[in-house]
Amino acid sequence: MDNETVKILLEKYPPAASSLIPLLQAAQKEYGYLPRVVMESIAEYLDMPVSRVYGVSTFYAQFRFEPLGKHMIKVCHGTACHVKSADKINETMETELGIKSGETTKDGMFTLERVACLGCCSLAPVIMIDDTAHGNLDRNKVKKVLREYKGGDQ
Ligand code: FES
Repeated sequence: MDNETVKILLEKYPPAASSLIPLLQAAQKEYGYLPRVVMESIAEYLDMPVSRVYGVSTFYAQFRFEPLGKHMIKVCHGTACHVKSADKINETMETELGIKSGETTKDGMFTLERVACLGCCSLAPVIMIDDTAHGNLDRNKVKKVLREYKGGDQ
């Protein structure tokens, strides 16, 4: 974590308690999650206890405390996908990756997330890996798609 980047980030906001949420959001945008050391720097900059920074950040679901995987997998749980067994797709993903939704694989390759409608309901059930939608899935297709990402360095 580069100190200069953290400093630039901090100095975009006034050192006031009202800057806490905007700073947390900016830090997450920069790093993809909230690194511990950055939360400590925010606490110091805002002259507040680190426990308060943790308390506020853990209150909001938008903040993450672990780095994201190289590939982001979003499993749609919108109505159309739900009707077409999105739960089974999710289950297969969790089994194949050995993680639960919201987690990242130990090798840092994949983060799995549940999301609402991805906007391509005619392809239900759908997942999105990074910026690519994969639709009309069943368990076997899920395994095949995952193999492509595991094998090839996409
Ligand atoms: S409900 Fe899944 S893409 Fe719309």
